[in-house]
Amino acid sequence: MRVVAAGVNRADLMQRAGNYPGAAAVADLGLEVSGVVVSVGDGAGDDLLGRGVCALLPGGGYAEYVAVRAAHLAPVPAGVSIVDAGGLMEATATVWSNLYMPGKLEPGSWLLVHGGASGIGATAVQIAAAHGVRVATTVGSPDKAGFVEGLGAELVIDHRRQDFADELRDRGIRPAVVLDIVGADYLQRNLQVLGRGGRLVVIGHQSGAKAPIDLEPLLRNNLTLTGSGLRMRPDHEKDQIIADLVQHVWPLYESGAIVPTTHAVLPLERAADAHRLLEQSHHRGKVLLLADPDLPPPPGSRR
Ligand SMILES: NC(=O)c1ccc[n+]([C@@H]2O[C@H](COP(=O)([O-])OP(=O)(O)OC[C@H]3O[C@@H](n4cnc5c(N)ncnc54)[C@H](OP(=O)(O)O)[C@@H]3O)[C@@H](O)[C@H]2O)c1
Repeated sequence: MRVVAAGVNRADLMQRAGNYPGAAAVADLGLEVSGVVVSVGDGAGDDLLGRGVCALLPGGGYAEYVAVRAAHLAPVPAGVSIVDAGGLMEATATVWSNLYMPGKLEPGSWLLVHGGASGIGATAVQIAAAHGVRVATTVGSPDKAGFVEGLGAELVIDHRRQDFADELRDRGIRPAVVLDIVGADYLQRNLQVLGRGGRLVVIGHQSGAKAPIDLEPLLRNNLTLTGSGLRMRPDHEKDQIIADLVQHVWPLYESGAIVPTTHAVLPLERAADAHRLLEQSHHRGKVLLLADPDLPPPPGSRR
């Protein structure tokens, strides 16, 4: 693929800092891109040539060209620009595989998404709301609160001023699922807020990975504590996740039920500035790197 845009993810910052053991096999940064297929290998159809696509990668997306397993490609959803498409794969694959593949998140049930204005959070809020799930989410500033409300969040909690467990309890809200990126600091409260049969899905541990745990809520409420790391999944699992995305999530983009949330697009040579943006955490949604602004758009997609 010739790369048009690459998504910047929190994992890239962790990898740069030498804090991502799972990344040892692929040293270069970049977990997702959009672009155009310029060459195909054995077993991949010639019909891919010239197509505008997005791709999930084990690394190496901050580049002008990448080699991709064909099953890890998806078409650019109709109506989405090829630049915005550079930030779709990592978040949609993470959200779909954790919220929907282990079981259905029923319409009308509550989901708590921590960090609703993050790349992951903005996608989780939208996909769940589009399926009729009621979404509560935590954010770190009032402008982020307005942003996630616009994406469909029904209850927004400013974690710098409010305690999410108190806010949910006061309203009698017992989520069916909590999608957590905070880890240690939130572990016990996440278990306390879940309703009967609820599921805590840990996909990040920004406050630390180790915490004491009171197991009592698991027994009392028949809870499940789980988690996953997309990058570490074997290829055949990623194949299935991407096939599911194209079937179930891409139509939501194509109908306008959900939208890409691109916060900023920087040239590839300003990758360091893009990392600083994420570190400062004023961004809402995705930060992208543009590989080559002069690349003509492929047929059927718009830049
Ligand atoms: N397991 C997986 O497969 C997988 C895949 C992709 C991403 N992830 C994880 O998902 C997380 C988000 O990734 P991203 O790339 O979307 O990063 P990002 O856009 O940089 O988002 C990080 C978010 O964390 C929020 N945050 C920090 N402390 C918080 C707290 N105490 N309570 C609530 N929110 C808090 C920040 O918001 P404020 O600054 O406003 O608080 C910010 O929105 C990362 O932890 C990443 O490692 C996991």
